[in-house]
Amino acid sequence: MSDLTSPPSDQLATVTIDADEVPKAEFSDRVPIQSIIRREDGGSGLAGKKARVGGWVKTGRKADKNAFAFLELNDGTCAGNLQVIVEASLADIRQLVLSGTCVVVDGHLRLPPSGTKQKIELRADKVLHVGPADPAKYPLPKMKLTLEFLRDYVHLRSRTNTISAVARIRNALAYATHTFFNKHGFLYVHTPIVTTSDCEGAGEMFQVTTLFSEAEKLEKDLIQNPPPTEADVEAAKVVVQEKGEVVSQLKAAKADKKEIGAAVVELNKAKENLSKLEERSKLQPGIPKKDGKVDYTKDFFARQAFLTVSGQLQVESYACALSSVYTFGPTFRAENSHTSRHLAEFWMVEPEIAFADLEDDMKCAEAYVKFLCQWLLDNCLEDMEFMADKFDKGCIDRLNMVASTPFVRLSYTEAVEILEESVKNGKKFENEVKWGIDLASEHERYLTEVKYQKPVIVYNYPKGIKAFYMRLNDDSKTVAAMDVLVPKVGELIGGSQREERYDVIQQRLKEMDLPVEPYEWYIDLRRYGTVKHAGFGLGFERMILFATGLENIRDVIPFPRYPGRADL
Ligand code: 4AD
Ligand code: MG
Repeated sequence: MSDLTSPPSDQLATVTIDADEVPKAEFSDRVPIQSIIRREDGGSGLAGKKARVGGWVKTGRKADKNAFAFLELNDGTCAGNLQVIVEASLADIRQLVLSGTCVVVDGHLRLPPSGTKQKIELRADKVLHVGPADPAKYPLPKMKLTLEFLRDYVHLRSRTNTISAVARIRNALAYATHTFFNKHGFLYVHTPIVTTSDCEGAGEMFQVTTLFSEAEKLEKDLIQNPPPTEADVEAAKVVVQEKGEVVSQLKAAKADKKEIGAAVVELNKAKENLSKLEERSKLQPGIPKKDGKVDYTKDFFARQAFLTVSGQLQVESYACALSSVYTFGPTFRAENSHTSRHLAEFWMVEPEIAFADLEDDMKCAEAYVKFLCQWLLDNCLEDMEFMADKFDKGCIDRLNMVASTPFVRLSYTEAVEILEESVKNGKKFENEVKWGIDLASEHERYLTEVKYQKPVIVYNYPKGIKAFYMRLNDDSKTVAAMDVLVPKVGELIGGSQREERYDVIQQRLKEMDLPVEPYEWYIDLRRYGTVKHAGFGLGFERMILFATGLENIRDVIPFPRYPGRADL
């Protein structure tokens, strides 16, 4: 019996955890399977204890003349499954054994017969929940499914071994990202998703507008409630005139105040009605236009707005106040790329560092990528081993190599010379190599995969192929840009030292035919308290591709968006 007079700390002290039970997850009513089978001893030390587990059946079979069901249960907390044995008297085991069924059971852990792979299994004492999955309809049958097939079921594919491993690796890389920048004194800044500045100046932005939905709404409304005719408006004018006359007459006759007041109310009502009718009679179906162009002052933000292609410009304003910052969020590009390396919606990690130049920027990029690789080796080995086993034998070696090998650094000019040399020696590229070209993916991959077989940083690119904000070098031909190229992926990071000189940035905007007005705020950062600064953007999905060795970027983001496709 509880003693109501004892102090709370004493009461707490009396609460004991049942030593026979494996502790449940803090915020859900079951033991995570990970905390059973991912122990050092594989779970064997828990033999004899009670546990409640829940998960989805990977595979199930009936045994001993249908007396038992053997279930491989997975709850996504780790790659492995827990074997659960359910006696037929406890539930309809025909239903339990079907792939995709959700099951929650109370049971006790026990050592399996010797010679089996697993170190522990659960013998069910009670079945608490069954969420059936009709095999005639369940879209993910037991057989091996291709990643391409799974893209048609993005809402269910997280139940598969591969996509759940990718989800855990992705989560680990996000956590590692925040850990790295936090450790180095960077502040996480949330830059806007909706923007009115085109960072890359490449015109690949998705427009954000309500003009179309508003036009459709209006069109419907005008059909249901036709606008007033000219005659309706005229009639309303007559009413206003009449009511006005009544007021004048009453005033002239020095009628009592109450009576005049009532007449004025009537008059105001008539005026209001008239102005409403006039307003509605002006309504035109379609998109609002002015001087033959779309009138964006009528749009939601009263100007043209877009989804951001990069948080860089906005995060620069925080770097030029808080010194070391980063943003990590979704970015959008309306480029019609159908490659295995491009998405229309992808996530980017963008640090921005004040009092830093290109050299500092490259150092930071290298340290960050190395940190990510080491983090996966230290924290995600089970999932990485799965990837190595199923998709890319070399992926763990690659992480080790990148974590421990200094990156090669080449100027763009040197990179072009190396590529030209390789062409002389018989290497064939689809795209011609000469100084001034934007390196194609095949060139980047040759450098990092064939020539050096390790990450390569190419820096000082021709100004003609890079964005306006990159710092002009003293040669006036190149800018202080850098790309980090890695095997398997090609370009993983793009960055630069920023043009901090007021006159030069204005000159660059002009040269590139960009309007100055939308960038005035950006130029302000140079106008007031300018400072050298640098930053970069890491394509988060490219990093996951690089780590896992998967071939298609559509499989490393939960809900891929690409031309023609935006499910859910
Ligand atoms: O090289 P990008 O275009 O650089 C920028 O956006 C700069 N504003 C970043 C900065 O300096 N803060 O893009 C950066 C990275 C690329 O290196 C690539 O990894 C990835 O973003 N990326 C894409 N990933 C998936 N799909 C796409 N369509 C991508 N476009 C770029
Ligand atoms: Mg780039």
